[in-house]
Amino acid sequence: MERKIIQLSDIHFGDVTFSTSLKDNALKQIEDENPDLIIVCGDLTTDGYLHQYEDAANFINELKAVTNVHVIPGNHDARNVGLIHFQRLIGERKFSQIDKNGGFAIVGLDSSQSDLNDGQIGTDQLIWLESELDKIPNDLCKIVTFHHHLLPIPQTGRERNILLDSGDLLRVFIDYGVDFVLNGHKHVPNVWVIENMVTLNSGTATTRKLRGETYPCYNHLIIDNGNVYVNLINTETGYKKELARYSVKMESDEFNICSYKHNLL
Ligand SMILES: [Fe+2]
Ligand SMILES: [Fe+2]
Repeated sequence: MERKIIQLSDIHFGDVTFSTSLKDNALKQIEDENPDLIIVCGDLTTDGYLHQYEDAANFINELKAVTNVHVIPGNHDARNVGLIHFQRLIGERKFSQIDKNGGFAIVGLDSSQSDLNDGQIGTDQLIWLESELDKIPNDLCKIVTFHHHLLPIPQTGRERNILLDSGDLLRVFIDYGVDFVLNGHKHVPNVWVIENMVTLNSGTATTRKLRGETYPCYNHLIIDNGNVYVNLINTETGYKKELARYSVKMESDEFNICSYKHNLL
């Protein structure tokens, strides 16, 4: 059975480069795709202000009219005590969901810190994460999402965007056989594979806060019986480009990524 997931991030309501037409494009394109799940990897707002959260909540509600939506906060959302609004208008800052019928499980974490750009998961969340990963059957595709980068990403400038405790997190992911990590943050789409684990970064879907030659975009994943496909969707044109494809083997009832092909961005 095919499952379709949309990964988008860095909406940045309130930013001078935010574009209503890009936001409307994204919504229309996502409605047409009719995905099974939407994951929003943080930075809904630019300053964490109430009016920015109100606009963000309206957008999230429009996405919820399409399908299930999970959202985690980014560094911008944690500015100006914004996480109070996040919890009231958007939802919990971390979550865990097992979808046995869909063949996947997803865990969301809050990597933000009040008024800081640096990201950290912290000991309490790491312990919680391990207990949640422990409950997930091995035959499911395991997905974890948080805002900051797990690994360095090219073309993001001086590298200071990795989690302060990324090594500890990487250890947990490898020990528990996590298959996909979904991040946002520096608005540069990217794919790495490490220890048969895929880390996917999404760009900014709705702004022109763009670095180098990137464009407004988001990610589109298709998980079917033997393969996972990752596409990049250009929010401006709707053009879809294959970023990567993975073949999956069930070994001893375990979901394993066994080979991959990456295309140049
Ligand atoms: Fe951002
Ligand atoms: Fe960010």
